[in-house]
Amino acid sequence: MLLPHEELVARLVRVGDLPPHLRPSFERVERHRFLPDRITTPDGTTVDRARDEARWFELAYADIPIVTQRDDGAEHGPGYPTSSASQPTIVADMLRRLDVLPGMRVLEVGTGTGYNAALLSHLLGDDEVTSVEVDAELAETARVRLMSAGFTPLVVTGDGMQGWPARAPYDRVISTAAVQRVPYHWVAQSRPGGRILTPWGNAFHNGVLAELRVGPDGTAHGRFGGDVAFMWVRDQRVPRRVVETYVHPETQEFTTTRTELYPYEPISDFGASFAIGLRMPTVLNRVESSESDGPRFTVHLVDPDTGSWASWHIDPGQRGTGYEVRQHGPRELFTELEAAHAWWLGEGRPEHSRFGLTVSADHQRVWLDEESHLVASAP
Ligand SMILES: C[S@@+](CC[C@H](N)C(=O)[O-])C[C@H]1O[C@@H](n2cnc3c(N)ncnc32)[C@H](O)[C@@H]1O
Repeated sequence: MLLPHEELVARLVRVGDLPPHLRPSFERVERHRFLPDRITTPDGTTVDRARDEARWFELAYADIPIVTQRDDGAEHGPGYPTSSASQPTIVADMLRRLDVLPGMRVLEVGTGTGYNAALLSHLLGDDEVTSVEVDAELAETARVRLMSAGFTPLVVTGDGMQGWPARAPYDRVISTAAVQRVPYHWVAQSRPGGRILTPWGNAFHNGVLAELRVGPDGTAHGRFGGDVAFMWVRDQRVPRRVVETYVHPETQEFTTTRTELYPYEPISDFGASFAIGLRMPTVLNRVESSESDGPRFTVHLVDPDTGSWASWHIDPGQRGTGYEVRQHGPRELFTELEAAHAWWLGEGRPEHSRFGLTVSADHQRVWLDEESHLVASAP
């Protein structure tokens, strides 16, 4: 019978995430050494190592993310996850995509537990790995755990958005927290030909990887890939509880229209919602339903910057006569969404992998198929 650790490695090989050169690192680095004694699974079960060690080991090597900090470590907070050991198949997939090989120097942003830094240290040697963690307590815990597992990469307590110039240039930069804007520091601290891999998204859609290559002219270019939702870097977080905060139809004025558009595609189709998010990046979407509503549900669109909102009420009984849409505020968010969806259809329903990103000293530009076909640009 395979031990949980061996089973995990076998699984990574099976799903194709583990190229041969990464395998020894996954075999050598024991994930359980980077986890707390109490593990809470995504379904909410907490397992205490002291009470049920076998189950704890099983979870440590299960293909699940394990939350290791909530509310930035504050007590009595709402319980939002702020650090985790990422899901092993995603860790492996990201290292595979990064194309990181012995002889390279790497910057990791988001040390978290230190597990990924340990894998990198095993592959490249401690001196070639720099990992930046914004949370001092997490950084210290990671240092201790790394050392007791036999690794001593440089773990810096600081804001990873600044990179870590003292050890630049890097061949590879990997972020394990999501950004809305790729910091130019990462590009400037990379070697020409170097690569940057980061989870990327916006308020509308959090779930792709930006895979960039740094050119000799000091700009980085590349495409989007993957299907991953990471927690945001601290200063680029998306506001929470926006419906409760901004949507108050009982006291606010709104206009009412009707639409034939059904939310499935614009909200739930991966390619469509990614593309729509590029056109309305500050807008959050939230689907609300309750048991008493039966098959009815509401999609809210909220722009915290202007306080605008739209509520799109789906009642299957109204199919054919149109669903009711209410819009409030200076931006007509539903009208914008309809236009963005029509644009996506007009472009031939492109998947996210047809979009790309260019990061220069003063701009982040998103394009479709080629850089001249600009979709969005931000400073
Ligand atoms: C998903 S966890 C990282 C998982 C980690 N690589 C591992 O192997 O356990 C994301 C981490 O990014 C950190 N983080 C968030 N914003 C950051 C920033 N601006 N600079 C550095 N780290 C940051 C969080 O504190 C959190 O620990």
